[in-house]
Amino acid sequence: MSIPLISLFSLLILSFYLPQNHAFSKSITKEEMGIKQRQNLTHLHFYFHDYFKGPNQSAFRIAQAPNTDKTPSGFGALVMIDDPLKEGPENDSKTIGYAQGMYGFADQKQQGILMVMNLVFIEGQYNGSTISVLGRNEVMSKVREMGVVGGSGVFRFATGYAQAKTITMLDKFGASVVEYDVYVQH
Ligand SMILES: *[C@@H]1O[C@H](CO)[C@@H](O)[C@H](O)[C@H]1NC(C)=O
Ligand SMILES: *[C@@H]1O[C@H](CO)[C@@H](O)[C@H](O)[C@H]1NC(C)=O
Ligand SMILES: *[C@@H]1O[C@H](CO)[C@@H](O)[C@H](O)[C@H]1NC(C)=O
Ligand SMILES: *[C@@H]1O[C@H](CO)[C@@H](O)[C@H](O)[C@H]1NC(C)=O
Repeated sequence: MSIPLISLFSLLILSFYLPQNHAFSKSITKEEMGIKQRQNLTHLHFYFHDYFKGPNQSAFRIAQAPNTDKTPSGFGALVMIDDPLKEGPENDSKTIGYAQGMYGFADQKQQGILMVMNLVFIEGQYNGSTISVLGRNEVMSKVREMGVVGGSGVFRFATGYAQAKTITMLDKFGASVVEYDVYVQH
C-alpha cells in the first residue's frame, strides 16, 4: 500500500520539475479547421500569354550562363514572368489572372524548362487565390505536364496537375500563347 503511495508522490514531484510542454506539432481535426471531408475537384482552362517584346512585355530574361547562347537548348537562361492568363488565345481576350514566377532552361540537350510559378487569379470566386505550379516543361512536346504543389485561398491544400499545349510560339510580335488545363483538388 505504501509503495504505490510513494511512487505517486515521487511522480507528483517529478511532474512539478518537468519542463513545460511546448509541443511544436499536434493532430487536429478537419472540423476544427472548418474543412469539409469532401474535396472539390476543379478544372481550370485558360491561355497563358508570354510577351517577349512590345509595350506590354511580360517576360524578361534576367540571367544566363556564360555559354547559354552557344548551347542548343539555351541552357542556363532564366526568365522572370508576370504573364497574363486569358480566357482565349487572342491577345485582346479577357485577363482572368497572371502567371507570376520564373522559368529556367534546365536541360543541356533539349529545351527542357523548369517552371516555378504562382497562378494568381483575379476573377469571381477565385479572386486573390493562387495555385503554385512546379515542373518540367519540355517545350517541343505536344502536351507537357507539371505538378500543382500547393495553393492559397479557395485553393488551400491544392494538389493536382497542369497540362500545357503550345498554340503559337514566338510570333512576329514576340508573343507565345500556351493553352493550359489545370486539374486541382482542394
Ligand atoms: C497594353 O496594355 C494596356 C493595358 O492593359 C492596353 O490598354 C493596351 O491595349 C495594351 N497594348 C497593346 C499594344 O496591346
Ligand atoms: C495582338 O494581335 C494583333 C493581331 O492578331 C496584332 O495586330 C497586335 O499588334 C497584337 N498586340 C500585341 C500587343 O501583340
Ligand atoms: C478582386 O479583389 C480585389 C482586391 O480585393 C478588388 O479590388 C477587385 O475589385 C476584385 N476583382 C473582382 C473582379 O472581383
Ligand atoms: C466547393 O464546391 C462547392 C460547390 O460548387 C462550392 O460551394 C464551395 O465553395 C467549394 N469550396 C471551395 C473551397 O472552393
